[in-house]
Amino acid sequence: MTISDVTMPREIPDPPGIAHARTLCAAWYADPDFFATERRAVFRSGWVCAGVTDEIPPAGSWTGRTVGGIPILLVRDRDGALRGFLNVCRHRAAPLCEEGETNEGPLIRCPYHSWLYRLDGSLAKAQGVGAPADFDLDEYSLEPIGVATWRRLVFVNLADPDATLDLGPLAAAVDRCPIEEMTLVLSETDERRFNWKALLENYSENYHTPFVHPEIDTTSTEDYPMVSDGPVLYAWDRPLRPGSADDEQIRHSLLPGEPGWERLFDADTTRPYDVGSYLTIWPNAMINIFPDAILAMWMEPVGPNRTVVERRLYALPGRRGDGLADNLRAHAIVHQQDVDICEAVQRSHDAGLDADGVLATFEERGVYFVHENLRSALASDERTR
Ligand code: FES
Ligand SMILES: [Fe+2]
Repeated sequence: MTISDVTMPREIPDPPGIAHARTLCAAWYADPDFFATERRAVFRSGWVCAGVTDEIPPAGSWTGRTVGGIPILLVRDRDGALRGFLNVCRHRAAPLCEEGETNEGPLIRCPYHSWLYRLDGSLAKAQGVGAPADFDLDEYSLEPIGVATWRRLVFVNLADPDATLDLGPLAAAVDRCPIEEMTLVLSETDERRFNWKALLENYSENYHTPFVHPEIDTTSTEDYPMVSDGPVLYAWDRPLRPGSADDEQIRHSLLPGEPGWERLFDADTTRPYDVGSYLTIWPNAMINIFPDAILAMWMEPVGPNRTVVERRLYALPGRRGDGLADNLRAHAIVHQQDVDICEAVQRSHDAGLDADGVLATFEERGVYFVHENLRSALASDERTR
């Protein structure tokens, strides 16, 4: 590949069907019955981001989490293998560990009647159980769920313990990013007053940026193309300088994994939104990738109009030096602006006001990605009922 092949902005065709797309009805953001169906179809039927690897327990310990409204147990055995189980005792359903609590030891003890489980989930002892007919310890293991890690993120699959996590080729966007060397500089957990899709849609479009975030208005200098493949939507800041053959243009015209793309990570930027790429990972994770920092967000829906939003910002020590405080300030302002507009839109949904709007065919292809994934999850849920 020569430079001249890649200096012109890449043509990104409209996704088929987007020209005829309409926004989702208000009930899909506000109705408790719809929420119950959606949570089953989306959060309990496939891979969901459940956190970051540095917050799961060290070898020989376990912790309680909630994913898709289901209490789960993440366990690391003494050899370091990570496993997941439903957090429910096979005797009379006591939780084995409270949400957010971490315990350690050779065996997991149920707090109710003291049944003991090994760290591989098998039942080791049911003290005092007597002689129930046909009772076999081997048939009373904890119910396994799928668990996988990808870089610094943890994913779980409540429907299939044997599923394989495959984020597809666009996940290579993080390949050159030294996340493991970065240090945590921000950790926030907030319950927000919007449906989880509101933030996912907002994150997946740049249409609102000049209006909601006037301080990062770059619409005259760059566009914000997006492509999707499998569960990943990839967007990037692309300078609009036709004819320029400098590195800026090159790195912003390529997709992850293509020759030359990795130069993104050689960029020396002092402003947080100069150079970035952005991953939406269906259904609940969002990652901002900068040359020397990464912002990971994931969500747990707790009601039709309530969502817990987790945010972790990691940065390479030293690269930005004094700029880190500015960077954190910029992230905080931008995030609050997004939260405010999502909560405002949610009030319309809660009032039952349908927009019946169209989608911008270039700018809102990420919103379309969210809607198409949702429709597909609902359709497969319908087929399995
Ligand atoms: S519920 Fe766990 S031992 Fe009884
Ligand atoms: Fe925004």
